[in-house]
Amino acid sequence: MESYIINGGNKLEGRVNISGSKNATLPIMAASILNEGTTTLYNVPDIYDVKIMINILENVGCKIYRNRDKVVIDSRNVSDTVIPDVLMRQMRSSVMLVGAVIGRKRQCNFSYPGGCEIGARPIDLHMRAFRKLNVNVRENSGYIYCDTDCIKNTELNLDFPSVGATENVMLLSVLGEGNTTIKNAAREPEIIDLQNILNKMGAKVQGAGSNIIYIEGVKKLKDVTYTIMPDRIEAGTYLCMGVATKGHIILDNVNVEHISSILSKLEETKARIIIRKNSIELIGNSKIMGIDTIKTMPYPGFPTDMQSQFVSMLTISKGTSIVTENIFENRFKYVSELIRMGAKINVEGRTAIIKGVKNLEGALIEAHDLRGGAALVIAGLIANGQTKLIGIKHIQRGYEDIDKKLLLLGAKIKKGE
Ligand code: EPZ
Repeated sequence: MESYIINGGNKLEGRVNISGSKNATLPIMAASILNEGTTTLYNVPDIYDVKIMINILENVGCKIYRNRDKVVIDSRNVSDTVIPDVLMRQMRSSVMLVGAVIGRKRQCNFSYPGGCEIGARPIDLHMRAFRKLNVNVRENSGYIYCDTDCIKNTELNLDFPSVGATENVMLLSVLGEGNTTIKNAAREPEIIDLQNILNKMGAKVQGAGSNIIYIEGVKKLKDVTYTIMPDRIEAGTYLCMGVATKGHIILDNVNVEHISSILSKLEETKARIIIRKNSIELIGNSKIMGIDTIKTMPYPGFPTDMQSQFVSMLTISKGTSIVTENIFENRFKYVSELIRMGAKINVEGRTAIIKGVKNLEGALIEAHDLRGGAALVIAGLIANGQTKLIGIKHIQRGYEDIDKKLLLLGAKIKKGE
């Protein structure tokens, strides 16, 4: 099984370029199905989840051309409306293809996207919204059959501001009849990116970034060229690495506005942060101060996708920190691996209590999910001695060239068997 071998103790120093956002790229690639033409995307990250999405799009009939960060999707011949089980299982966020396929072909069959390491990941909010938009949804032994003769746009209220459900309803409604209003919509920046490209394609969407989104159905969309926004979670992850290694790093190609909740929490560690137009400079403090409380919330609150990286960074902080995970029910799986390295963490339900220790010791550890895996890379960077981290496929799903970027910052990391 592929691994990262990390020799800890080096301060990270230098510049790192932040790649395009995974969580903006995936719904935007799904949106390409709505146009019987060509979608040209730039700043697409070279990560495993994008490779899976390319496979799924080719499966439904798209032709895809990729050259470095440029991806061209020709969706003139979308013929199939079945999302294969094996691909659905590989990436559960492929559920957001469903809205686009129904929007284009008025039907879609797919297998229930199972849960993953961080939770059950149900899709009840998606299905309830689809039914409100006049889509027949039938479930039978793990398969879901959706079809409609006419998407009737309407007003709907999400029980929870689900990112995926918000995006799926947007994708379903843009070619529907009439107007859709999504109340209690998710406000994540990736949803604004989706609105931007849809409007460039000729859709009529407004309100993304607020909790009410309006979609006026149109007949057709057109070819588009679009550049994906920077990945705010990748940026936050490198900032945590800078603090944890007491280093001095500069992040290029960052949208500072997207990470204000992360920056304010990092400042509580007494790290110094200098903000420039498109870059952020972080100077770590020799003493990392603990953070009294972190509570993950929907955007613009502190992001759940940064929870594990902060916990890892705080293992060697001064004092006690309390981190509460309010979004997913099982997002502390990585903690047992940190404890193997000498961390003092007590998990009670949805709360982790971290008592800072002087340092961690390198060990053999395993990643079980994407962000938990990033947390374990951070632990390897700060631990004494050598850490062997297995299960790195999880990390490669969402971090482009993480080993190469860390090497450039002075880390001792390499791929192992
Ligand atoms: C998106 O997942 C992101 N993924 C996740 O990032 C992120 O953690 C999450 O939003 C929250 O910000 C992508 O954008 C590809 P949700 P999504 O629907 O859409 C419950 C990463 O590491 N829920 O906002 O699946 C759900 O179980 C990934 O990059 C229902 O109950 O998240 C969870 O508890 C991980 N029923 C909560 O809502 C539903 O129908 C938030 O889920 C849908 C969701």
